[in-house]
Amino acid sequence: MSATILPEKNLHYPVLLNEVINIITPQNGGTFIDCTFGQGGYSKKILEYPNTKVIAIDRDKNSLHLASDLKKKFEDRFSFYNIKFSQIKDLNLKDEIKGIIFDLGYSINQIKDLSTGLSFDSKGELNMKMGLNDFSAKDVINKLDQKELEQIFKYFGEEKNSKLLSKKIVFERQKKNLNTQDLVNIVKRVKKKHHTKTNPATKVFQALRIFVNKEISELQKSLEASANIVSQNGIILTVSFHSLEDKICKFFFNYLSKQDKVSRYLPEKNTTKKSFSLITKKPVTPGTQELKLNPPSRSAKLRAIKKIGTYENNMNVFLKYENLLNIENFSKKL
Ligand SMILES: C[S@@+](CC[C@H](N)C(=O)[O-])C[C@H]1O[C@@H](n2cnc3c(N)ncnc32)[C@H](O)[C@@H]1O
Repeated sequence: MSATILPEKNLHYPVLLNEVINIITPQNGGTFIDCTFGQGGYSKKILEYPNTKVIAIDRDKNSLHLASDLKKKFEDRFSFYNIKFSQIKDLNLKDEIKGIIFDLGYSINQIKDLSTGLSFDSKGELNMKMGLNDFSAKDVINKLDQKELEQIFKYFGEEKNSKLLSKKIVFERQKKNLNTQDLVNIVKRVKKKHHTKTNPATKVFQALRIFVNKEISELQKSLEASANIVSQNGIILTVSFHSLEDKICKFFFNYLSKQDKVSRYLPEKNTTKKSFSLITKKPVTPGTQELKLNPPSRSAKLRAIKKIGTYENNMNVFLKYENLLNIENFSKKL
């Protein structure tokens, strides 16, 4: 779900902003990486505090014009990279990094831009690309085979009708290339008996968006790199909007902060100390005031950890989610 909403024109509400600021404490200065710049809600707030610097990242080139406005205002304290956050490890970082923040998902501007095809109202081709993508939802829906589509809907969307839906799509696409409205209508027909408050195509759209933007490997690679990059006492903070991304953040943060057993019978050098400590034992969620102001924030979950030791790179930690990466790899044939 989107992290921001514009109930009135030109109003922008970065989700859980006060909570983010309370945890990363820019009041004390320092350099922060905002991995999901979007409309710059977090970056701008951090820059309000003197002695701070922000290195911002966003894969969407539409963030560039806002970023260049900030650059004019905070020349030496702000930099922006139009890259994917999995490339965070390639940044040439000179300062110690006090905080790395991720506000995952997509922004309200991206939904409102009907050409992205993220909205159920999009009239054109299937798309769902956030930026710097290799393929679009059009390729996925029209080229992958039925079993592959079924797995994408089942595991990335937790869609109960994944088999029936994928069969129907494969049948319908023999007649014509399917566009966004064709897909919405197929899902509506398959699910006509189920009455839900949300659009029936919500889960299928979520699944396609995760697949098209390779959100699983993006998140895993960037979290892993962040654990290395962030300095002592620095913080990694995530705000997630669907259970799949929250599960991955929770699992990784628990892994990093798990206390290895320190035996009093072993010599000092054989004992291991944990590399991070959990700041949020339970996820922080929006309060009633924020929910009233910004209803889409209801699914937001904030988690954070603090570095207190050393970290050795270990992508194997994510083997638990190998099946999700195998599904992501269906894209190799596109
Ligand atoms: C929810 S919005 C962030 C909103 C921002 N916190 C604000 O206050 O304006 C998420 C942003 O992350 C970007 N994004 C998502 N996945 C990304 C990735 N893998 N690499 C870089 N940017 C990404 C999207 O393009 C979008 O602009």
